[in-house]
Amino acid sequence: MLAILYDRIRPDEKMLFERAEALGIPYKKVYAPALPMVLGERPEALEGVTVALERCVSQSRGLAVARYLTALGIPVVNRPEVMETCGDKWATSVALARAGVPQPRTALLTDTEEALKLMEAWGYPVVLKPVIGSWGRLLAKITDREAAEAILEHKEVLGGFQHQLLYLQEYVRKPGRDIRVFVVGDRAIAAIYRKSPHWITNTARGGQAENCPLTEELAGLAVRAAEAVGGGVVAIDLFESERGLLVNEVNHTMEFKNSVHTTGVDIPGEILRYAWEVARG
Ligand SMILES: Nc1ncnc2c1ncn2[C@@H]1O[C@H](COP(=O)(O)OP(=O)(O)O)[C@@H](O)[C@H]1O
Ligand SMILES: [Mg+2]
Repeated sequence: MLAILYDRIRPDEKMLFERAEALGIPYKKVYAPALPMVLGERPEALEGVTVALERCVSQSRGLAVARYLTALGIPVVNRPEVMETCGDKWATSVALARAGVPQPRTALLTDTEEALKLMEAWGYPVVLKPVIGSWGRLLAKITDREAAEAILEHKEVLGGFQHQLLYLQEYVRKPGRDIRVFVVGDRAIAAIYRKSPHWITNTARGGQAENCPLTEELAGLAVRAAEAVGGGVVAIDLFESERGLLVNEVNHTMEFKNSVHTTGVDIPGEILRYAWEVARG
């Protein structure tokens, strides 16, 4: 039986439940916060479970639960190692670099002065991001030295320990959109454009989803990026730049509710079939 692990039922989780029923995949909903994770014991909620699909909104909870399941010998989609890499932008960038996947110019600094020096050397605008985060939160596009000094001071004084890591990227001039490719196993199954007049195109921030034709180049690069982080079910965000396609990030618990009718692809069905195949080895 497939366990769908969740902590909040978004429209995406609803779609997964409905598709599992329609496809006849035996499954149960497992509310992750109610799972006692005692090592050496198998909670009742996991009786009969042979594989799990992790869908928690909370990244730290999702990772903790995924690790626990591996202790019980239950395979989980995605694997905890993949979640560790994707949940951390620096870890993702390093994995992409090791695999030779093209990405925006990226650096990590742990010292304010050094960060300022590098921004000056690269020239403005530059983008500063927290290494852990999503939905476009706390991203800064820094346009000059004064703005850089102000943001760095705020991070230092108000930021807390997570903001001691200064993740820096060149600002990529995109044509008013990003591309998101959905990868399931070794296949790219669908892609969308995310259009926005704002430089941050997340749909959580008002970006509009539109179907994007899956070219061979796009599919090939997305699958390479997925493999670089360890594979599974992931969404690859790409920029169209003057240097060609660049991979910006890899999302490991992807939201797809806006993309099913846009692309005409049964994304939840593909995810479920993949997870079910993992159970059968
Ligand atoms: N270096 C960059 N150049 C241009 N736009 C960027 C850059 N980094 C991020 N963005 C925009 O901001 C959005 C959110 O950034 P992202 O790195 O994906 O963070 P999050 O994890 O919060 O989604 C991207 O989808 C893109 O539209
Ligand atoms: Mg993103």
